[in-house]
Amino acid sequence: MADVNPLLRIENLRVHFPLTGWRVAARRGPVVHAVDGVSLTVARGESVGLIGESGSGKSTLSRAVMGVYRPTSGRVLFDGIDVHRAKGSAERQIRRRMQMVFQNPYASVNRRYTVTQIIQEPMKVQKLGDAAERERRTRELLDLVGLSSRLAYRYPHELSGGQLQRVAIARALSTRPDFLIADEPTAALDVSVRAQVMNLLVDLKQELNFSLLFISHDLATVSYIADRVAVLYLGRLVEVASIDDLERDPRHPYTEALLAAVPRPDPDAARLYRAPGGEIPSAVNPPSGCHYHPRCPLAEERCRQEYPPISVLSGNRRLACHVRAGDRPAPRLGAGAGDEPPVPYIDPSN
Ligand SMILES: Nc1ncnc2c1ncn2[C@@H]1O[C@H](COP(=O)(O)OP(=O)(O)OP(=O)(O)O)[C@@H](O)[C@H]1O
Ligand SMILES: [Mg+2]
Repeated sequence: MADVNPLLRIENLRVHFPLTGWRVAARRGPVVHAVDGVSLTVARGESVGLIGESGSGKSTLSRAVMGVYRPTSGRVLFDGIDVHRAKGSAERQIRRRMQMVFQNPYASVNRRYTVTQIIQEPMKVQKLGDAAERERRTRELLDLVGLSSRLAYRYPHELSGGQLQRVAIARALSTRPDFLIADEPTAALDVSVRAQVMNLLVDLKQELNFSLLFISHDLATVSYIADRVAVLYLGRLVEVASIDDLERDPRHPYTEALLAAVPRPDPDAARLYRAPGGEIPSAVNPPSGCHYHPRCPLAEERCRQEYPPISVLSGNRRLACHVRAGDRPAPRLGAGAGDEPPVPYIDPSN
């Protein structure tokens, strides 16, 4: 059913970057269509996975949601407040309630700060508590993320990648956020500690019940933590479904291709899906029609001509595919059929 009051609502968001070095008439010069008309909601306490290949726009989308990038068009509502227009105490509240964990912990913390200083930084910026309270909260957070208080005065270079990512998670949780974005939080870690950090996130999510937008290029990792998954291809969502529906019955050929990339012990299951050929095209000059058509085994003429509008299949499922949308009973468009309205396609060159 439609979630009338989601914690996060992304509405037809576009983030285009003019190519640097292009001086003359920059507005009409070549642009990177990093995010190109994305609508998505995250309910309270829900965990949504965002997957797509490198360059599909995942980080750009998350930075726009955090308010770091200004959207070219569209908007992001956090608890009903426009993230990019909020001022004063509304803006401070949003900064406190939304936090982020990045891919590379060494790059995302100040190397000259101790663990304590790193964890306390957001609390200081937000003016939360006095020095004693911040100290107490730091111990509590270290305990929460499974780190010994003996590490409290160490520097980043004295910690392992896994330990430092735990510190980054503690920092993100220090302001008691109700929404967390994790942008490939295990991608830079040794394989041996990835599972530990994933387990930690799953446990914290259960204990603290924050909403989560979990970004990865790997469906297997996302399936570990997400209730629902949004699949991004060249700046556009091609499919949104519950993790169960997606794994049992992927509808978009690109989702199938991502599933093919998940190693499977059963060779018959592995043969079910075709792996994608070629590479993701440039976001400066996206292919005509459906952006996936040059790599799609099912592509037809109309896929080369027009972009398929994202339509609601049933319940919470959404799909942007000319060929597969017709496989099912006629898509139910509009009110009550899903949690987000279908987004009409607007040619980005307009
Ligand atoms: N600040 C920027 N200026 C210009 N182009 C950018 C900028 N940030 C990202 N891009 C471009 O936007 C597109 C999307 O990049 P983004 O980093 O969001 O992808 P991603 O899905 O996070 O990839 P990865 O999996 O490699 O992290 C890419 O073509 C990238 O080159
Ligand atoms: Mg990224």
